[in-house]
Amino acid sequence: MIAMLTTLKITAHDLNNPEIADSLKATLLSGGLVIFPTETVYGIGGHALDPQAAAAIYAAKGRPSDNPLIVHVARFDQIDALAYREQPYIDALAQAFWPGPMTLVLRKKAIVPDGTTGGLSTVAVRIPSHPVAQTVLRLVDVPIAAPSANLSGKPSSTSFSHVEADFLGKVDVLIDGGDVPIGLESTVIDATGSTPVILRPGAITQEMIEAVLHEDVLDHSESLIDGAPKSPGMKYKHYAPQARLEIVAGSDEAVVRFLRQAIAQDPHIGILGPSELLDQLQGGIRFDLGSRTHLEAMAHQLFAALRALDDQQVPHAYFIAVNEAGVGKAIMNRIYKAANHRIITLDESSKGTP
Ligand code: TXA
Ligand code: MG
Repeated sequence: MIAMLTTLKITAHDLNNPEIADSLKATLLSGGLVIFPTETVYGIGGHALDPQAAAAIYAAKGRPSDNPLIVHVARFDQIDALAYREQPYIDALAQAFWPGPMTLVLRKKAIVPDGTTGGLSTVAVRIPSHPVAQTVLRLVDVPIAAPSANLSGKPSSTSFSHVEADFLGKVDVLIDGGDVPIGLESTVIDATGSTPVILRPGAITQEMIEAVLHEDVLDHSESLIDGAPKSPGMKYKHYAPQARLEIVAGSDEAVVRFLRQAIAQDPHIGILGPSELLDQLQGGIRFDLGSRTHLEAMAHQLFAALRALDDQQVPHAYFIAVNEAGVGKAIMNRIYKAANHRIITLDESSKGTP
């Protein structure tokens, strides 16, 4: 049982007030928790070198303590205090994508406590670009461990109402930065070996990484190596709405036919997908994610739509699969988890019925 805290709610603008800035700094340096916006999703931050702060983060999220945290710093020159930059491609990636939505897993130095890394010999580090995240990191001038600010297993928070719903009374400070720009968590790359390995796809895509490095990189997201998930986060149920979510994939005609039948059978069925197909449907509870020609915009809506399913208490929903090119890979990665890998593949001959 976690004691209820008095949560202070402030805006990004309040950080200009020296008194508020000082008290925020004191909160973080004494092991308190602050939720702040980043360009990807909101993060729940605590002092990364203080094992008690890490323990408080796990408790507030209800997260298993072997699922390691991402350590955030403001500047590249702060990385060397935390981890070894052993591979030559690390600097090229940093140059191209930091500050920004990329996380690198590096071999950790002893200063990073086991409590922050779930006992691993590696640490995940990121330099966020969001001005509020940058302001907080520069203000405290210590590394900040910050997983996504959602209760464990729930969709990440992309707007302030999401963090209020999950964390009011459970953390010291909430910083309202409005809606986050990207809406999907950072691309996590294992940078300990001679070839970079993508552990979690995000807005920085495999194609973008390969274009910078002029070499092929591996994508092990969702894959099981030696029977053990390579990234500890992979083994947990993630992003799951209360609804039973299923993915439908197939030609547009087959998907529309299938969904019309589903709506006829259950007018309260939830349907998430691109406008191109939702425009061909009537009835059901439809969550339009925008045109599939703008995958970034679809990604931006994704977690809010999953939370809306819960708010509207939709018991059963379908997600219309999108092409896994570019950011589509990250969208489908989150949806596979949210749907617990339930997928209905329709082909022209199939009489797939809801
Ligand atoms: O965009 C983001 O990355 C957000 C914002 C707040 O920065 N943070 C975030 O943190 O998504 P979290 O804790 O929800 O996800 C971190 C992911 C998990 O899948 C975790 O298993 C993986 O990174 N990870 C962290 N440390 C790792 C390590 N040492 N080795 C392998 N995977 C690691
Ligand atoms: Mg998370």
